Amino acid sequence: MTTVYNGNGHSNGHGNGSQERNQERYIVEDLENLTFSVHRKVFVSPEILFDEERRIFDKCWIYVGHASELKQPNDFRTRQVAGRPVIFTRDKQGTVRALLNVCRHRGALVCREREGNARQFYCIYHGWSYNTDGSIKGIPGDDAYPPNFDKKSKGLVPVPRLEHYKDFYFVNFDKDAPDLHTYLAGAKDYIDLVVDQSPSGRMEIISGVQEYDIKANWKLLVENSVDDYHLVTTHSTWLNYMRNSGVNITPAKGHMLPTKGFGIDLGNGHLTTDNPNYRGRPVAKWISVYGEEAKADIDAIRKELVTRLGEQRAARVADTNRNLCVFPNLVINDGSSVTVRNFYPVAPDRMRVTAWALGPVEETEAQRARRLHAFLTFYGPGGFATPDDVAALELAQQGYAAWREVPWTDLSRGMGNSQEQLATDEGHLRVFWRKWSELVEGKAA
Ligand code: FES
Ligand code: FE
Repeated sequence: MTTVYNGNGHSNGHGNGSQERNQERYIVEDLENLTFSVHRKVFVSPEILFDEERRIFDKCWIYVGHASELKQPNDFRTRQVAGRPVIFTRDKQGTVRALLNVCRHRGALVCREREGNARQFYCIYHGWSYNTDGSIKGIPGDDAYPPNFDKKSKGLVPVPRLEHYKDFYFVNFDKDAPDLHTYLAGAKDYIDLVVDQSPSGRMEIISGVQEYDIKANWKLLVENSVDDYHLVTTHSTWLNYMRNSGVNITPAKGHMLPTKGFGIDLGNGHLTTDNPNYRGRPVAKWISVYGEEAKADIDAIRKELVTRLGEQRAARVADTNRNLCVFPNLVINDGSSVTVRNFYPVAPDRMRVTAWALGPVEETEAQRARRLHAFLTFYGPGGFATPDDVAALELAQQGYAAWREVPWTDLSRGMGNSQEQLATDEGHLRVFWRKWSELVEGKAA
């Protein structure tokens, strides 16, 4: 039987592959022949990007920021979220809000700073001003408006939905969307593994941000973030560095990497890798790259984890690393540091990436320094990993210029292994694409 995921959640058991492989069907899964194909038009087409904006970014829960970025009342950060200008702010009363950064008069941005603390948002065009809860504060010359002009109703418009899970705030532009907790499904367990690293359960975004563009379609970074198949080739420089630093990176028997890790379907299009750790974790597991002087400190962190969480849970937190993808565009890399990153398409062949380091609020200066070192040296834009990943993704995008002649991407690694999918397989990548197909190729929104 040929199974075609045609976007409406149903499979069609008809026809042979060649007939169905037309340009209007982008994701083709053939369970009989164990093939999974993605049409490369999805990486180059402006029309498909338009559909993604309406059917994915306007419908899904999209990460906007972390509560720790708004420590004081009236703190704010301005962000582009799913193409909209948004003020992520904690108002005077302490309530976290996401307000559209759009003047109610004639539409200018009312907050032009990236971040700060402000008692009001002020539009420089005609001087309308707003309180940090979004309510209207002042309108110059308001006596000129007609008698039925309702000044009170002219506050900044909040995003339709704003919810959080353990201080990770998400917005949704669909007021009828299911709640965030339901949406996150199994991804919650993996966020818990991150948050459990803090003795008080309080993690914080560490000041400073990495921002860069990649000349590649945004979906390539979803794939790349969770794809352990590319590790030994793309990241050979880093693996050599690890080897030279005395870390054992000999592949496990019958496996490409030193440990056997898994790719996991978390439901609703979310997915993760889950690997027994060989890279070390400055938060809980020492390896030689951290230097002898760090050993006692890292051992102490480990001890605190065991005391607080018990052996088993501490081992889960400390001895595995995970690259989590919350559909569609949030990735949390919980490895040698915790990197929170999201990325948006700015064109079919270009994305904008923003990445933050996350850490327990209780960390000492030395622990924080180790964390930031790891954040920079592996995932940073000049680190061991990211430049090589960017090069690979941009090469793929360049290859897609021939999408008409070489139209199909193969994502069939691990198909047929129903029991377990390795992180070096592509089963978890297929999870993303099935959800993508359901939303983009499904009925018009
Ligand atoms: Fe903001 Fe006129 S556009 S005051
Ligand atoms: Fe990589």
